[in-house]
Amino acid sequence: MYKIVEKRRLNPSVTWMTIEAPLIARKAKAGQFIILRVDETGERIPLTVAGYDPDKGTVTIIFQKVGKTTMHLDELEVGDFIQDFVGPLGRPTELEGYQKVAVVGGGVGCAIAYPQAKALHQMGVKVDVIAGFRNKDILILEKEMGEVADHLYVMTDDGSNGNKGFVTVKLQELIDAGENYDLVIAIGPLPMMRAVCNLTKEAGIKTIISMNPIMIDGTGMCGGCRIKVGGETKFACVDGPDFDGHQVDFEDAMRRLSIYKPQEKRAMEDHIC
Ligand code: FES
Repeated sequence: MYKIVEKRRLNPSVTWMTIEAPLIARKAKAGQFIILRVDETGERIPLTVAGYDPDKGTVTIIFQKVGKTTMHLDELEVGDFIQDFVGPLGRPTELEGYQKVAVVGGGVGCAIAYPQAKALHQMGVKVDVIAGFRNKDILILEKEMGEVADHLYVMTDDGSNGNKGFVTVKLQELIDAGENYDLVIAIGPLPMMRAVCNLTKEAGIKTIISMNPIMIDGTGMCGGCRIKVGGETKFACVDGPDFDGHQVDFEDAMRRLSIYKPQEKRAMEDHIC
């Protein structure tokens, strides 16, 4: 059992939670994820490691209430326990060898983008962060991202905070202004990552994205997390979750992600009632 030692609400639907998990905290790296089960009858869900403290033996996750399990998880408080907490899983993001990187996060994807930006910053790499949200009410991690970015650009769809427009507007503007990024990391909803990849492909900039498909075992056995990359089938849990965004088949990934929508909706309705 894994104890919750900190809980913070970042916005009405996104929660920051720190868990006591010393073995994971000792090994975790940016880009990796854990799989948890809230209780013994619960489903297994993957969540990216948003932070880790080897000295305190804690791991931070940030999640959005999007279904039954995340709603259940959000009902737990400091001092409560999570049944299973397994990791670190997946390959860490390869961050070596870059001089200047644009990290682009969309919505709760900023929770995954933040540790990448932080790791790059600690390595002495110049990092621009572009963080996009629908509006100011759902903005998260502005202070944290500002601390690790050379420049932080907040974009909101309605202009209620920062600049108005999608993250791609700012990225294009920066590239046009001569920012010579040798890598772009994009993390967020699939349509956002696809839009960033279309832009960076045109500009000839290597782009890494983090895939978050349905996962079950997280160890390469069930095939649930399969995606198509460069015409080949890959398992996001063991081959990723990071992939070359210019090689990912986004249409296939979107189709697979929506397969269980009716069941997910029913489970959430049952949980609320
Ligand atoms: Fe089962 Fe990846 S989650 S193979």
